[in-house]
Amino acid sequence: MIIADVARVSLADAIREQESQYTSGVYGKRELSIVRGEGATLWDADGHEYIDCASGHGVANIGHGRSEIAAALSAQAQRLITCPEIVYNDVRASLLARLAQVTPAGIERFFLCNSGTEAIEGAFKFARLVTGRTQIIATMRGFHGRSMGALAATWEPHYREPFAPLLPDVTHMRYNSLEAAEAAISERTAAVIIELVQGEGGVHVATREYVEGVARLCRERGALLIVDEVQTGFGRTGRLFACEQYDLQPDILCMAKSLGGGVPMGAIGLGRRVIESGRISRGVHGSTFGGNPWLVPLRLLRWISLSVRTCLTVRLVSEPMLLVACVVCARPLCVRYVEAAC
Ligand SMILES: Cc1ncc(COP(=O)(O)O)c(C=O)c1O
Repeated sequence: MIIADVARVSLADAIREQESQYTSGVYGKRELSIVRGEGATLWDADGHEYIDCASGHGVANIGHGRSEIAAALSAQAQRLITCPEIVYNDVRASLLARLAQVTPAGIERFFLCNSGTEAIEGAFKFARLVTGRTQIIATMRGFHGRSMGALAATWEPHYREPFAPLLPDVTHMRYNSLEAAEAAISERTAAVIIELVQGEGGVHVATREYVEGVARLCRERGALLIVDEVQTGFGRTGRLFACEQYDLQPDILCMAKSLGGGVPMGAIGLGRRVIESGRISRGVHGSTFGGNPWLVPLRLLRWISLSVRTCLTVRLVSEPMLLVACVVCARPLCVRYVEAAC
């Protein structure tokens, strides 16, 4: 069937039928054919209207159909469609400088990539290089992505087990248990990776005592602390980064999702211990599309600023409500507040 053949079935049904015929089959899909969005509102092919509580897995923090973002993407595509990091670029330089301004204190340099799982993979490679150790400690119920290294750190066995053996020397400790952290972290540990609010299997918020304790144990035992803010970053907990809620300075900060406002983009923020090790040197890592100027037009930098203002506005309105709502379904809230803040 072709999509134009709508005489017998609705357009939404035609889309579903065509997609089902050719897709890989790995996704369990809702019976919806979404074709358009504006702000926090989505429309299906039959014209039904929905509130977008999913925001593309927590990506579309400033909503759909924003004309200034579309115009910036279009202008950049006409000026320079790609520019890998073997040369310098004006737009990328500005993005890096802006990231340094908005990320938590101590995060000073950035590796740009394309997704959350790629940010996690890079973080593990950097942690191994910097420490000369291999052990990664993740937490039970944590989620870090689907590629082999990130998957090894992801807790849920049904994601991991069909693909074993995964990255070796990755273990899981109980979340929010300082005793478990005390027992697990050792002189063998390259890095501990945590989410400050876990989203998998419920919303679990790290206690301040736990976060401070894990950071201290990492420092004392020579391990790096990787904070996965792929989900919580860019305004989802009422600050631009959840780290700020804890006055936490991670050694490595993983970002993605709403960093690009809808286009694929990830980043690994590097703290002083990583930079000063001198081990992150030429050629140790790379990415063809990472730092592509098409993905980082300057207007997106403005959007990052809007996010900061959004966070401040939202915090004034309701911080506790935000902790739950922003991680699980932040979009309607966030977009309204962005619009109010501008
Ligand atoms: C906390 C966290 N880390 C990493 C990832 C992986 O990101 P991506 O799907 O962009 O690879 C996700 C995805 O949901 C996530 O929630």
